[in-house]
Amino acid sequence: MTKTTQIWHIDDPADPRVAEAGRILREGGLVAFPTETVYGLGANGLDAEAVAGIYRAKGRPADNPLILHVASIAEAKALAREWGDAAQRLAGKLWPGPLTIVVNAAEHIPAIVTAGLETVAIRYPSDPIALALIEAAGVPVAAPSANASGRPSPTRAEHVLDDMGGKIDAIIDGGPCKVGLESTIVDLTVEPPAILRPGDITREALSRIIGEIRDVEVGNAGVQSAEMRNAGQSDADTPKAPGMKYRHYAPNAPVTVLEGEPQAVADFLRKRLAPTKSPQQKTALLLSTETWRYLAMGGAQFDKDEKSHYCRDMGSRDKPWEMAALLYDALRACDREAATQIFVEACAPEGQGAAVLNRLRKAAGDRFIQV
Ligand code: TXA
Ligand code: MG
Repeated sequence: MTKTTQIWHIDDPADPRVAEAGRILREGGLVAFPTETVYGLGANGLDAEAVAGIYRAKGRPADNPLILHVASIAEAKALAREWGDAAQRLAGKLWPGPLTIVVNAAEHIPAIVTAGLETVAIRYPSDPIALALIEAAGVPVAAPSANASGRPSPTRAEHVLDDMGGKIDAIIDGGPCKVGLESTIVDLTVEPPAILRPGDITREALSRIIGEIRDVEVGNAGVQSAEMRNAGQSDADTPKAPGMKYRHYAPNAPVTVLEGEPQAVADFLRKRLAPTKSPQQKTALLLSTETWRYLAMGGAQFDKDEKSHYCRDMGSRDKPWEMAALLYDALRACDREAATQIFVEACAPEGQGAAVLNRLRKAAGDRFIQV
């Protein structure tokens, strides 16, 4: 059934349409909204019927649980069966912000939210419109990223409209998301706590607050088994963030990640791309500012404006958060431009770079080339 999806451009959290959107949520509807990480697709988290609508609109597998979004630490506590010291310290220091905490779930949370797990993921976002919306709804808001399942997460309202137009009640357009990658997820129900998904809040920031922490990301295929071996786990262990096992973040064309210094990346591309003149081929190049500079200096054998290329400057190599903010928009643009192959330059693995590389691994599989 097709719905009319209203689109509201809102930059003031006091805009009366936020209250209207909150009412839609409370009464069982679906509203997409901006957060500091990516756009979320919200429903009343205590209404199983409404939450079922999220799974339908996204085409999301039923075994992939949702994050509950709250607008205060007190509300988060009310969703947890236990709220330990680590939860209290992380919440006190890093909320509101791009951090999701997994704790044992309170009994009143519908099973469809947790996909039947004993645990629940909770996030208190910092985006002012998201907070105003959650307050207006007056209930915890269940919200996955507002993309169709398997597509890159939306970081702009246009991305949400592309995937969800006609399927949901409203989209609040609050402009581009600042972080651009999904929140860091930390599981506090295991000892030591585990990072299930890296994000803008780095492992260093977390361990400064709660000490020892391990990475137990359940990725796809090779990534998963390598990391689980490192963690001394068997594949029989329950996947901790069920969503991480699905293919994600993938545009239509194959993605190849190039690892190496800017000059080496530039040399590789110059050699590799010079002969590509076929009109059926369109190569997307998502490269650092530094590498574009080398390509310009050395005389790239292809023209940035040429129709056979789609070129994007992803920001400085030393500032992985710039690449994080642009990545999903760039991957979606590759689809729009009908790219037939995509080269993305890797960033350094430190700090937020870990989250960027994690998403690149999911988009590229094992297509990493050391140049
Ligand atoms: O930044 C974000 O976290 C965004 C915004 C909208 O808040 N949300 C988001 O939700 O990325 P989603 O559904 O796309 O990803 C949530 C991830 C999935 O991998 C899911 O399996 C995992 O969190 N998850 C949810 N509940 C869990 C639980 N109880 N235990 C372990 N993992 C859980
Ligand atoms: Mg998602």
